[in-house]
Amino acid sequence: MKIGILTGGGDCPGLNAVIRAAVRKGTFHHDDKFVGFLEGWRGLVEDMSMPLDLSAVAGILPRGGTILRTSRTNPAKKPDGLDKCVATLNKHKVDALIAIGGDDTLSVATKLSAKGVKVVGVPKTIDNDLAGTDFTFGFDTAVNIVTEAIDRVHTTAEAHNRVMVVEVMGRDAGWIAIYSGIAGGADVILIPEQPFDVDKVAAKIRKRHERSRYFSIVVVAEGAKFASTQGGLVTQSGEKDEFGHARLGGIANTLAQELERRTGFETRTVVLGHIQRGGSPTAFDRVLATRYGLGAIDMAHRGEFGKMAALRGNKIVSISLAEATGTNRKVDQEMMDAAFGILEDAEREAVAG
Ligand code: F6P
Repeated sequence: MKIGILTGGGDCPGLNAVIRAAVRKGTFHHDDKFVGFLEGWRGLVEDMSMPLDLSAVAGILPRGGTILRTSRTNPAKKPDGLDKCVATLNKHKVDALIAIGGDDTLSVATKLSAKGVKVVGVPKTIDNDLAGTDFTFGFDTAVNIVTEAIDRVHTTAEAHNRVMVVEVMGRDAGWIAIYSGIAGGADVILIPEQPFDVDKVAAKIRKRHERSRYFSIVVVAEGAKFASTQGGLVTQSGEKDEFGHARLGGIANTLAQELERRTGFETRTVVLGHIQRGGSPTAFDRVLATRYGLGAIDMAHRGEFGKMAALRGNKIVSISLAEATGTNRKVDQEMMDAAFGILEDAEREAVAG
């Protein structure tokens, strides 16, 4: 089989591990040939590719980023964009395409599948918000990076009697915030799923400081919303990407000012940004990414197209692309209960909603 691979959307630790696993399994066990399309869907629209063989994937397992590079190109927004993708695949005589990406990338894969392209999806996003899979690779690495940052911020907050507001990624779902907040022992966790009342957050912090703790750690997802703005996001500019997403960022600063004004406690912010997406994947993500890459090759050889490899209860299964891209996977009640569980009941409203 001739198999094309591309990586689309925001990069994510583990992308190279997926590519490596797919190329190794395909080459060793099926005599497959591979071509890598560069910079996500742009590679198909503009016919940009590179040879992918065993030597191209040697040594890439622990490397962050993606050897195929990536972009947020949306072919559906370009004149004849989807048809150009089909033409490029035909030109390269590709039998099957493995698209590694999040909901945006896989929504394009779904459209191409409807045009008859034999496509298999692999779920990628540090946000962990793809439906139908228990975990996306990259999430565990991001959570570990944030947890270490919270641990470091703790000691300086304590030394200075300060409130520290740590802003983490998470556009539509607060998985990174809630996992790292629990792991790092945050006092307040604010997530997109639950708009928050800043007066209640301030009251909680004041109460904690009255009880002899002189510092607090607040973890806020970039997509969290002040209840008072009725769902408005804090954005860096009005600009939107080709999938219609605004560039988020800045909520920590706004929140820190509001908290300092209400409590009188000195407050500082840390915006972790792309540090969460860079560098080497954790062992968990290397294994998960490898399993997804192997699963994608198995699916291609079983003829399971229009589907995505998914993790369900530690088994790699295949689900339809439509199921994976139909909705965002939000933080569930069980995780919210876990966050509430380690805090006083009276504080429920100020934490994760
Ligand atoms: O889609 C994953 C993500 O990391 C979001 O959490 C974040 O809002 C976005 O990407 C940032 O995208 P970019 O790297 O294009 O600024």
